[in-house]
Amino acid sequence: MDYRSYIAERIPVDGILREEIAESIAVPPDSAMGDFALPCFKFAKVLRKSPAMIAEDLKAQYPVDHVVSEVLAVNGYLNFKINKSALAREVLEKIGAEGERYGAENIGNGRVICLDYSSVNIAKPFHIGHLSTTVLGGALYRIFNFLGYKAVGINHLGDYGTQFGKLISAYKRWGNRELVEQGGIRALNELYVRFHREAETDPALEDEARAYFKKIEEGDRDCLSLFEWFKELTLKDVKKIYDLLDIRFDSYAGESFYQDKMQPVLDELKQKNLLVESRGAQIVDLEEYGMSPCIILKSDGSSLYATRDMAAAIYRKQTYDFDKCLYVVAYQQNLHFKQFFKVLELMGKEWAKDLVHVAYGMVSLEDGAMSTRKGNVVFLEDIIEKCVEKAYAILSEKNPDLENKEDVAKKVGVGAVVFGALYNNKIKDIVFSYDKALNFDGETSVYVQYTCARAFSVLSKAEGIDYKNASVTEPCPQEFELLKLLGEFPDTVKAAAEKYEPSYVARYAVDVAQKFNKFYIDCKILQAESGVKEMRLRITEATLVTLKNALSLLGIGVPEKM
Ligand code: ARG
Repeated sequence: MDYRSYIAERIPVDGILREEIAESIAVPPDSAMGDFALPCFKFAKVLRKSPAMIAEDLKAQYPVDHVVSEVLAVNGYLNFKINKSALAREVLEKIGAEGERYGAENIGNGRVICLDYSSVNIAKPFHIGHLSTTVLGGALYRIFNFLGYKAVGINHLGDYGTQFGKLISAYKRWGNRELVEQGGIRALNELYVRFHREAETDPALEDEARAYFKKIEEGDRDCLSLFEWFKELTLKDVKKIYDLLDIRFDSYAGESFYQDKMQPVLDELKQKNLLVESRGAQIVDLEEYGMSPCIILKSDGSSLYATRDMAAAIYRKQTYDFDKCLYVVAYQQNLHFKQFFKVLELMGKEWAKDLVHVAYGMVSLEDGAMSTRKGNVVFLEDIIEKCVEKAYAILSEKNPDLENKEDVAKKVGVGAVVFGALYNNKIKDIVFSYDKALNFDGETSVYVQYTCARAFSVLSKAEGIDYKNASVTEPCPQEFELLKLLGEFPDTVKAAAEKYEPSYVARYAVDVAQKFNKFYIDCKILQAESGVKEMRLRITEATLVTLKNALSLLGIGVPEKM
């Protein structure tokens, strides 16, 4: 049940919107105060009364019933106590009926959300810097689909630019087929790094690279086929990681895809008198909006990242007719997105308001920085592998007889990397630590997974007990706290979608795991008297369903035994 709406509908006020009331209703930190609370402060102005008086008046008028059993006015808050048995019954029935779909709702109604994420650069390493965009985007993709939207995952490949000229030059000078075939991205990256090293003393290399890039643009067969081959190799490497992380795309249309779609954009800009010449380049002046100009064409006539992004946005609107188009890209590119969103708005695209830059912070490892040019890169694949190995070692120590240890270690290790990137508010910079990510008692995925294994184990011991439809009685405090939280899952998923914040789901999962463990330790489950035992098994199963759903939205698997 949606308690917030239920309560809001019964609050008798004039001059305030029901939705506003529903949104204001919160869960007090101390449940002794009440299960839900409405702070009355912000209504004081409209109602011309003190918050305390508003609370008193509302309390006197609120119709308590079988759902809300008590209302209290305390210091400007209106606190509500829920009928505990009714809540328990409701939550258990809903989870029991919906199972894997618990938390799913059709609020999207098939509307399209384009999601530009991961968007790797061809022939460049898939490094730790791509972790957040990949897992955040992947989680949002699943969350939106879960809510009845049609998510379109787009990998806007970085497959256009002078760096490919450099790579061809380096390949022709120092590379060969076997070397690159065997080494994949790593070999390509080494060539790229060598190019930059040698170009420091031999500036002629830069000209050579420019010439090769021009050849690609002109469609030279030899250069183009090398480039296509580099692309294929990169995607092969990258897809291994996508498989591990359960990441999917509906389109791999990258920057080069828009090569022939930029001219119409230029024409339109010209026709709308938005282009200005500045030192030979074509720009859109954005001074009025407090931004540096958006450069559309360089003085040598070549296009830019922003030009291609504008063509891409227009193409996506035409192709998918999106409700929103999200770009999951690091905050370093804030200005870039603000600029081209603005230019599209100036062009009169009313849908420019539906473009959203979902910015996130940096991820680094405990031991420092990296740069693609210099070569000291931390490959994401290595991080995942190391996490899986460490997980294997920990599991071997904790549970030497564990079956399918490799499989479990994979779920735990991959989960640790994903959760490490998703647990914090996305805009925060994070320093990834293997030990913290794999701490069984921390705010980690492995803690949640371990809790699930605990629930599995309880349920497997309950075989033969018919608990599925056990009758529900007044829950004890630990049961109630847990059930109330389980009931919050659908709202949590919706809030995560609304704020583009999968961390809400991650934090929620840890919260549920903590409340379940308190329940598990304080209340006997299998040893409880009959009647109570059955209801506790139902609660255990409902917890497991909810945690599995939460983790699966994040792309994390749940082993049955650990
Ligand atoms: N390839 C870019 C990078 O690694 C990210 C592209 C993001 N998407 C976009 N439409 N600009 O920085």
